[in-house]
Amino acid sequence: MTARDNLTQIEGYDRVLDEVKTARRYGADYRTMKGEVARVLDLLHPKSLRLRVSEVIEETPSTKTLRMVSETGYLPPFEAGQYINLFAEVAGVRTSRPYSISSAPSETAYYDVTVRAQQGGFVSDHLLSRVKAGDRFEAAGPAGQFRYNPLIHGKELVFIAGGSGITPFMSMIREATDRGLDRAMHLIYGNRVEGDIIFHNELKERAARHKNFTYTPVISEPSKGCVALTGFMSAELMKKVLSGVQGKNFFLCGPGALYDFCMPELGKLGVPENRTRREMFGAPTDITADPGWPRGVKAGTRFSIKVKGKGDVSALAHEPLLVSLERAGFTVPVLCRSGECSMCRVKLLSGKVFQPRGAHVRASDLKYGYVHSCAAYPIEDCEVLL
Ligand code: FES
Repeated sequence: MTARDNLTQIEGYDRVLDEVKTARRYGADYRTMKGEVARVLDLLHPKSLRLRVSEVIEETPSTKTLRMVSETGYLPPFEAGQYINLFAEVAGVRTSRPYSISSAPSETAYYDVTVRAQQGGFVSDHLLSRVKAGDRFEAAGPAGQFRYNPLIHGKELVFIAGGSGITPFMSMIREATDRGLDRAMHLIYGNRVEGDIIFHNELKERAARHKNFTYTPVISEPSKGCVALTGFMSAELMKKVLSGVQGKNFFLCGPGALYDFCMPELGKLGVPENRTRREMFGAPTDITADPGWPRGVKAGTRFSIKVKGKGDVSALAHEPLLVSLERAGFTVPVLCRSGECSMCRVKLLSGKVFQPRGAHVRASDLKYGYVHSCAAYPIEDCEVLL
């Protein structure tokens, strides 16, 4: 049998052949289709989103959800676990922060962005104390790789969350339980005190209603009468609440300390690293504590950054280069602010920067001297090209 004979066995092949013949005979007017692909791409991945806060929902004394609707009447689809990068002008500085969408992808009318107060949180403080219904924002995205893939992650998932790290899981849990998706999920959610637990009632209700979802809150500083498990999310605790780790995939999201603690604990249980996924969680709280940080450079040390052809910037060693550039009024394209997406690349012409673990610099960037400014800390005077 020839290749052509094989093709004729495919349903619809003859019809396509007829269409090709007709197009050849009369010619196809491609001008009528011009821009069609770009239009579809722009709908799926718009360069920017114009959002308006329709409602501010108080979740805990330190956490609020900002419900965002579109100013243009359309929100692009997203996958549970993805984030948007929200731009804001705070104290005269235009900056941005990525926030995971906590609502389910099936809620097409809005994105929920859940924000918790952070010590020294430049943008989170602004969002929590100033923002009200009706306020407008520009955003980029949705984007991000922290999402479930049925071909890779199987049907037994363990979510390990700390504090506001619950937000991408909330979207995944809402989607899977609302749509009755065929996957088992166990959430182990750590907080310092019970009052800090975000979405506690909803999580309890969903666990009571859905057999495929189990919820284990863990409190490290319990008050008298606390009914949750207490302590840390250790190997011992996980052994107690999970029926084995075989065949399970582990997703982790929370501050750096959560990864530092939980990854070795999972190792003790025999979970291989390729069965774990970690969400990037912004810049580390104390970069000087990162292994490899040069001992001679103290937090607060100032360096001079020459921006080729544009001016000079004074930068602090413990702050990402991106923050110093934004503070000086430079606009750098950004998305993840976690060293993952490459949007914020700048070329390092001279001097040295420290790049922590998790900064995924591409081989070509390394070769030509580019660094991710959101995950690069000056440890000498430098010159960069924007
Ligand atoms: S903004 Fe994504 S790598 Fe810097």
